[in-house]
This record gives sequence, structure tokens and C-alpha cells, in this order.
Amino acid sequence: MNETDRGNELGYLGPDACRACHPDIFDSFRQTAHARTSEPVAAIEMPGQYVSPRNRMTTSDEHLSIEMLHLEDEYYQRVRFYDWHIDVPMQISFGSGKMARSFAYWNLDRLYQHNVTYLSENDRWINSPGFVDGDAAYARPIPTRCLDCHATYFEPIEDDRADHALKDSQWRPDGGGNRFNPHSIIWGVSCERCHGPAGGHVTYHEANPDESKPRKIVRPSELDRERQLDICGQCHAGSTDLRGEPFQFRPGDKLSPHYIDPPPGIDEANSVHTSNQLARLKMGECFRQSQMTCADCHDPHQVVLDPTRYYSDRCLSCHSDDSCHFDPPLGFKLSDDCVSCHMPSRPTGDLRSQSVKGDIFPVLKDHFIRVDQLATDDFLEQRTEKSTASH
Ligand code: HEC
Ligand code: HEC
Ligand code: HEC
Ligand code: HEC
Ligand code: HEC
Ligand code: HEC
Ligand code: HEC
Repeated sequence: MNETDRGNELGYLGPDACRACHPDIFDSFRQTAHARTSEPVAAIEMPGQYVSPRNRMTTSDEHLSIEMLHLEDEYYQRVRFYDWHIDVPMQISFGSGKMARSFAYWNLDRLYQHNVTYLSENDRWINSPGFVDGDAAYARPIPTRCLDCHATYFEPIEDDRADHALKDSQWRPDGGGNRFNPHSIIWGVSCERCHGPAGGHVTYHEANPDESKPRKIVRPSELDRERQLDICGQCHAGSTDLRGEPFQFRPGDKLSPHYIDPPPGIDEANSVHTSNQLARLKMGECFRQSQMTCADCHDPHQVVLDPTRYYSDRCLSCHSDDSCHFDPPLGFKLSDDCVSCHMPSRPTGDLRSQSVKGDIFPVLKDHFIRVDQLATDDFLEQRTEKSTASH
């Protein structure tokens, strides 16, 4: 049996198979953060500095540092400890780079994470989230759940030698390790994670080119609301563990047979690796008093170029300027920016990186839409500062 046969049997084809019949969606989708959230390093334009001194990450241990190198066509992280050093290749990139890119390398069929992550803000190298400053842990396995959120399909390989380091990982799924069939992986979160494996769909429409009704494919807009939300909830409902093998979930399923519910309280805390957009959204009146789904604001096939305008227009599809009883300051139209006051960006506790200069927390949107006096005060203060500065 060919190594990639299991994925084919299940009907996973990868996004290139959609191009011929859905060229516009394919082209715009390719630019999205989902499409680019995991890819081989060879396929991307690598960000970051590879020349001294900006290619160097120092640590709190003065004898330990890491340098990022671009040698011939390959990228490496060079760990230096006293006079000793070792070069580890950067082979796989995780994250679209909107915020950050983390890197991984293969050791046979085992996947491991690099110590150093690229942070887009200020174009710099930092300690990967969860790595302890001053330690070079070049044996941190990439667990199954990491790929389950950042890829479309992969074939895990059974493993009785449970990797020792995995025991400490909060994402360790039952029975899973860090062994994957490298030829089986469909990188990026692409079409078939939200529409289901499309083998049957493509075969049918290739054989019936005059058929204009979609067959053998999941159409999210035809599902009931909870099942639509569950598609996104696979990855946006907090970093919950898998209940069993990955890739048993199919769009249209409930989450609970496949993913362990997050512990109570964590939904409200907004402080997991990714903020729990699903649970936060459900807490607000917009969600409770309408049939809102994620698709009311997010088109999964499109990159948003002007977020403030775009998302304010989404609010205005249900509200109007007059819905807001707040008196705008002089020279400011509420409808230019509904989001800053009602969906502020807040740092999340667990997406934290240690560095010699202190901890770094990226900010994420709070999806609990509400009247937020603190956010309003912050927003007005920043506006005042800006306008005073320009005078
Ligand atoms: C041989 C042509 C063909 C290929 C290849 C193809 N599709 Fe389709 N698809 C169609 C046709 C025809 C329709 C129905 C008309 C329409 O909605 O565009 C359709 C409709 C769909 C719909 C439903 C649209 C709706 O209205 O709800 C989805 C989702 C979809 N395709 C996904 C995919 C994905 C994902 C792939 C790649 C894995 C793919 N298709 C590849 C022909 C194709
Ligand atoms: C298989 C996991 C997975 C599924 C399913 C998924 N997402 Fe995502 N989503 C991600 C990951 C991972 C990222 C981070 C992408 C990156 O690297 O920047 C992301 C990013 C996003 C972003 C930010 C995009 C940007 O440009 O920064 C939005 C919005 C989003 N997802 C909405 C959705 C919606 C809506 C759904 C359901 C229709 C959904 N996601 C389904 C994993 C998933
Ligand atoms: C993150 C999840 C996600 C990904 C990835 C995704 N889609 Fe969709 N797609 C959706 C959702 C949700 C809808 C329904 C939107 C709505 O309700 O308005 C949809 C609708 C569609 C439709 C019908 C409506 C339309 O916009 O024309 C087609 C066709 C389609 N998707 C094809 C694709 C193809 C092809 C890809 C990959 C190139 C893809 N999708 C990737 C979630 C996704
Ligand atoms: C529960 C799903 C989930 C798991 C598990 C997960 N991620 Fe993520 N990751 C996300 C989502 C979603 C985002 C985008 C931030 C957000 O919207 O909450 C993200 C963001 C990122 C980013 C920044 C992307 C950007 O926007 O530039 C990197 C890098 C990353 N993850 C790497 C990893 C690595 C490495 C692992 C495994 C050790 C991992 N993630 C595990 C869902 C997940
Ligand atoms: C799908 C429709 C829909 C969309 C889209 C929507 N809302 Fe709402 N929203 C509602 C409904 C319905 C209510 C409850 C009735 C009311 O207060 O108007 C509500 C209530 C609110 C409230 C009052 C909350 C409270 O606790 O009383 C605020 C603030 C709000 N929305 C802001 C926004 C903002 C900002 C956006 C865009 C980011 C948005 N809404 C998008 C439907 C929507
Ligand atoms: C009422 C509008 C609205 C709805 C509904 C909505 N979002 Fe968002 N979302 C936003 C806005 C606004 C942003 C910030 C976008 C930006 O600034 O680029 C955002 C950003 C995101 C991001 C990027 C990371 C972050 O937090 O900044 C993800 C992931 C995301 N949304 C997922 C979801 C998911 C999953 C759902 C459904 C459970 C959902 N959103 C429903 C308005 C919405
Ligand atoms: C400068 C900050 C700010 C902006 C911008 C803003 N709001 Fe508000 N909004 C508030 C505050 C503060 C309140 C509470 C006002 C009160 O009760 O006196 C509020 C109240 C609301 C309410 C609840 C009204 C009620 O009495 O139930 C809705 C709905 C709302 N805003 C929607 C919007 C929409 C839609 C936009 C964009 C057109 C918007 N807001 C822009 C700060 C803002």
C-alpha cells in the first residue's frame, strides 16, 4: 500500500484539487492565514534576520545563545553552549506570520519544535511559547493536537514508545505521539477541514460536468447553527484535547464525541493559547438575540484588507449608527469604528513567551461583544493623544 493511501481512502485530496472548478475561491483562499498556517519552509519566503548581530537570541544563561543562519538554500538554528555548537534545520513553519512563525524539524518520522520563534512585531527572534528562557530544549515534540489545529490532514503513526517529553504537554492526545507519515500531510487549514473530504464530490462532478447542484460535499450554510459553529470550534474553542484519533470529526458532527470539553471556567477566562472565540461570542447579547454565526463577520475564503471598515460594516448589517447611545467625541463618526470600543484587543495569558527582557503576550480580540467602559476610555484617550500629538 502506498504511504499516502489512507488519506486517499478517506477522500482527502488537498486544495489543489478544487482549483479547476472553483478558481476564484481557490485564488483568494490561498492568501488567507488558514491556508498559510503550516507549510514547508522551502515553500515560503522566510522572514527574519540572518546576519550578526540581529540573528542572535541571547538567553539568561550567558554561555547559551542561538543564532539563525541562512546557509546555501537552507535555514538553521545554531545552538551555542560554551565552545560547543549544533545546527538544526528549520523545515516546517507553523503560523502564517501575522503574529509569529514557529519552526519544526523532522527526525525520521518524528516532528520536533525549535527553540526560537520569529515574532513579526519588531522583526525579531524570541523564545518559543512554553520554552524556558536559558534552556535549549531541542527535543520538544510537536504533539498530534498541534497539527490537528494547524493542518488539514495527516496520518499519525502508532507509537508505544510514548515520548517522555510529551507527558508534560498539555496538548498530548490519548495514544498520540509525534510520529507522522511525512508524505500524508496536507499543510494549512484548507477546504476539506470545513467542507469534509471531497474525493466523492470531485469524482461525481468530473463525471457529471452538466450538474450544477453541489453533490457529496458539506455546505456549512445548510447546517443548523450549532453544527456550523462546531466546524470552527474544532480549533477556536480553546485548546481542548482530542478524545481519540485525530480526523474523526466531519463537518456536520457535534464536537463533543471528538474533543474533550474545556474545563469549566476556562471559557470565560479568555486565556488559552488561542482565545476561545466560540465561548466568548456566545456570552454576548448579539449572539443570544440573533442567529449569528462566525460567518456573519468572517468570510473564510477572503483576506480582509481594511479590518476596521470591514468589521464595522458587519456590525451595521444588524445595527445602525443610532443603536449606539454613546455620544461620540467631536469629529468622530461612531460608524467608522464599532469594534475598538465593543470588541477590544486583549493579551492572552497562555500565549506567552519568556525572554531576557521579560514576558511577551500577543493581543487577541475579545469576542464577548458588550458595552465595555474600559475599552471606551482607552479608545478615547488614544484618540486624544493622537490629536494632541499632531497639533
Ligand atoms: C469537477 C468540478 C469540481 C471540482 C474539482 C470541485 N468542485 Fe466543488 N462544486 C462543483 C459544482 C459543479 C458545484 C455546484 C455549483 C457551485 O456551487 O459552484 C460545487 C459546489 C461546491 C460546494 C458547495 C457550494 C454551495 O453552494 O454551498 C462546495 C463547498 C464545494 N464545491 C467544495 C469543493 C472543494 C472543497 C473542492 C476541492 C477539494 C471542490 N469543490 C472541487 C464542482 C467541482
Ligand atoms: C483545523 C483548525 C481550524 C478550523 C476548523 C478553523 N480555524 Fe480559523 N484559524 C485556525 C488557525 C490555526 C488560525 C491561525 C492562522 C495563522 O497562522 O495566522 C486561524 C485563524 C483564523 C482567523 C484569523 C484570520 C486572520 O487573517 O488573521 C479567523 C477570523 C478564523 N480563523 C476564523 C475561523 C472560522 C470562522 C472558522 C469556521 C468557519 C474557522 N476559523 C475554522 C484554525 C482553524
Ligand atoms: C475555515 C473553514 C473553511 C475553509 C478553509 C474553506 N471554506 Fe468554503 N465555506 C466555509 C463556510 C463556513 C461557508 C458558508 C459561508 C456562509 O454561510 O455564508 C463556505 C462556503 C463555500 C462555498 C459556497 C459559497 C460561496 O462562497 O460561494 C464554496 C463553493 C466553498 N466554500 C468552497 C471552498 C473551497 C474550494 C475552499 C478551499 C480552496 C474552501 N471553501 C475553504 C468554510 C470554509
Ligand atoms: C486548539 C487549537 C490549537 C492548538 C492545539 C495549537 N494552535 Fe497555534 N494557533 C491556533 C489559533 C486559533 C491561532 C490564532 C490565534 C487565535 O486566533 O486565537 C494560533 C496561532 C499560532 C501561531 C501564530 C500565528 C500567526 O498568526 O502568525 C503560531 C506560531 C502557532 N499557533 C503555533 C502552534 C504550535 C507550534 C502548536 C503546537 C505546539 C500550536 N500552535 C497548537 C490554534 C491552535
Ligand atoms: C447578526 C446580527 C448582529 C450583528 C452582526 C451584530 N450584532 Fe450586536 N446585537 C444584535 C442583537 C440582536 C442585539 C440585542 C438587541 C440590541 O441591543 O440591539 C445586539 C446587542 C449589541 C450590544 C448591546 C450588548 C448588551 O450587552 O446589551 C452591543 C454593544 C452590540 N450589539 C454591538 C455590536 C457590534 C460592535 C457589532 C459588530 C462587531 C455587532 N453588535 C454585530 C445583533 C447583532
Ligand atoms: C460580530 C462580528 C464577529 C463575529 C460574529 C465573529 N468575529 Fe472573529 N473577529 C471579529 C473582529 C472584528 C476581529 C478582529 C479582526 C482584525 O482586527 O483583523 C476578529 C478576529 C478573529 C480572529 C483573529 C484572532 C483575534 O482574536 O484577533 C479569529 C481567530 C476569529 N475572529 C474567530 C472567530 C470565530 C471562530 C467566530 C465564531 C465563533 C468569530 N470569530 C465570530 C469579529 C467577529
Ligand atoms: C467610542 C466608543 C464607542 C464606539 C466607537 C461605539 N460604541 Fe456603542 N457604545 C459605547 C458605550 C460606552 C455604550 C453605552 C452607552 C450608554 O449606555 O450610555 C454603547 C452602547 C451601544 C449599544 C447598546 C445600546 C443599548 O442601550 O442597549 C449598542 C447596540 C452599540 N453601542 C453598538 C455600536 C455600534 C453598532 C457601533 C458602530 C456604529 C458603536 N456602538 C460604536 C461605546 C462606543
